[in-house]
Amino acid sequence: MEQALHQTVLLNQAVEALAVKSDGHYIDATFGRGGHSRLILERLGPDGTLTVVDCDPEAIEFAKRLQQADPRVSVEVGFFETVMQDLLEEGAHFDGVLFDFGVSSPQLDQAERGFSFQQDGPLDMRMNNAAGLSAAQWLNSATADEMKRVFWRYAEEKNAGRIARKIVEAREEKPLATTFDLVDVVKTVNKPNYKIKKHPATRVFQAVRIFINDELGQVERVLPVALKLLNKSGRLVVISFHSLEDRLVKRFMRDASQPPKVDRRMPVIPDDAKQPELKLITKPIKAVDHDENVRARSAIMRVAEKL
Ligand SMILES: C[S@@+](CC[C@H](N)C(=O)[O-])C[C@H]1O[C@@H](n2cnc3c(N)ncnc32)[C@H](O)[C@@H]1O
Repeated sequence: MEQALHQTVLLNQAVEALAVKSDGHYIDATFGRGGHSRLILERLGPDGTLTVVDCDPEAIEFAKRLQQADPRVSVEVGFFETVMQDLLEEGAHFDGVLFDFGVSSPQLDQAERGFSFQQDGPLDMRMNNAAGLSAAQWLNSATADEMKRVFWRYAEEKNAGRIARKIVEAREEKPLATTFDLVDVVKTVNKPNYKIKKHPATRVFQAVRIFINDELGQVERVLPVALKLLNKSGRLVVISFHSLEDRLVKRFMRDASQPPKVDRRMPVIPDDAKQPELKLITKPIKAVDHDENVRARSAIMRVAEKL
């Protein structure tokens, strides 16, 4: 297996924020290549445990090697939403949950995964490339309107409609099969401009990836499950890569940390009023202030503690 590396974002900051207790139980819900996991293990004593999750078969290979080397590690394969819901139903509890959303560098760098507009490869973009619809299957079957909505909603691509229509035209000639097929179509609308550093297909690739992997849906549905899995004083540490994800995290943490609203006409808080379940810890931490890694520029970390 290729030893592609992932440069972990906010490594020390995230593990610090988990406030690892020697005998605590932790879950790294986005294992990747295990950068955060390894530092958590360094801080855990012999009675602590770490559960690691990933939906990417290649990441899981690395997780299994770590498990073989360290009995404190257990590996769960699948989408974090499903895995964590199952853990909840089994009665599991954790002292800290870590999410480091998005794709890993190996996923981006390996042409055959189809995430990169800079390398030609099959137009795939699935984090779990063993299941679900690939980018090519979707782009070759969606209506122009569906594609336009996705390009606009997940990346605010200004030329969403024109690009969607060009894709429909192109696939009538020949179905899109590779990442460069998609790049070529996008470039007929977004002309390369050397004054703008961003690649003309950046936004379309981002939008397709978010859509294909249901990235925002996964985030929205997993956060309440993560909260339920936490023990009292347990930490929820979340690193987001783009503002759409961060908006969901911010809203979730804000809502869960708000005191019950007082009705001014009845200034007594009813006994059954919803009490805050989380306390926000520190201000959001931006990777740009801590990280050399250019890919991490937009990352932002939020931390909360279960009350
Ligand atoms: C940014 S990387 C994590 C890197 C990791 N913290 C490290 O230091 O190596 C994100 C990982 O989460 C996985 N992932 C993304 N969404 C997922 C989901 N919904 N369920 C399970 N794994 C997911 C990806 O496959 C990828 O391996």
